[in-house]
Amino acid sequence: MKQHEDLFAQIRRLKKERNAVILAHYYQDPDIQDVADYIGDSLGLSQEAAKTNADVIVFAGVHFMAETAKILNPTKTVLLPDLEAGCSLADSCPAPLFREFKKKYPGHVVVSYVNCSAAVKAESDYICTSSNAVKIVNSIPKDQPILFAPDKNLGRYVMQQTGREMVLWPGACVVHETFSEKKLVQLQVEHPDAVVIAHPECEEPILKHAAFIGSTTALLNFSLKNPAKKFIVVTESGILHQMQKAAPEKIFIPAPPNANCACNECPYMRRNTLEKIAQCLETMQPEIRLPEDLRLRALVPVQRMLELSA
Ligand code: 13P
Ligand code: SF4
Repeated sequence: MKQHEDLFAQIRRLKKERNAVILAHYYQDPDIQDVADYIGDSLGLSQEAAKTNADVIVFAGVHFMAETAKILNPTKTVLLPDLEAGCSLADSCPAPLFREFKKKYPGHVVVSYVNCSAAVKAESDYICTSSNAVKIVNSIPKDQPILFAPDKNLGRYVMQQTGREMVLWPGACVVHETFSEKKLVQLQVEHPDAVVIAHPECEEPILKHAAFIGSTTALLNFSLKNPAKKFIVVTESGILHQMQKAAPEKIFIPAPPNANCACNECPYMRRNTLEKIAQCLETMQPEIRLPEDLRLRALVPVQRMLELSA
């Protein structure tokens, strides 16, 4: 405990000295969420990164998120506490393969989930997150064919919500594909009063049990506004920290993964630690850098998304 208090104090001091802001995703360890200046979903974090006055952004999240912050802030220093904090979805879509894939679908507008590299963003017409994907696809004329990458589960969900056919890149998130339908149903039997809420990166058999589907922020808001006292939460378990903090009288049950593992914790997100945050503020490393021509190409679809989400 004492060690954590020292680290918190050290981080606060360094933040002041560097004029830094810590942006954290809900999937970070509770300690990191507690030291952050802003906690949010992918869209909220991009919006916050776009408007911060800080000189330094410490991104307590994964690589594509820090990269998006850099795309929006070329003159600021963007630090990622652990450069190995990647994402299985982003990794499932290497830019050279994606370029070849695109060639097979001439005339298609490309909508890419923000969970992709800057190089894939640069190949895209629109970026979306799980909170605005339906809105963004609906903003595209009905007769315009669409290619959606890299998450096939979010893509399928968006197709169902919009009634649009889309070509899907076959990527998926290792965390959201880990949930067991059998164990979820067992949990529902044990807790018949619990409301199931799920992230759209989950597979279809899981989503069909959900009373509400949304981004991490949408799940948090729904669980706070809904009068139910008990929720089964089907997404990375880090989100439960804010749910429990905001509604200590409610019960939040993390949905069980297939195996007896902690696979409902994102192994990439959880690479970040308080120690690494303190260290990156001390050394100003590892820093995210992008070639300017790539940044400018990736900026166009990111800005389009922010305009459509304002
Ligand atoms: P959101 O925060 O947009 O819901 O996305 C979840 C996620 O998997 C981030 O990597
Ligand atoms: Fe990527 Fe899934 Fe981890 Fe999100 S939870 S960062 S989509 S691997």
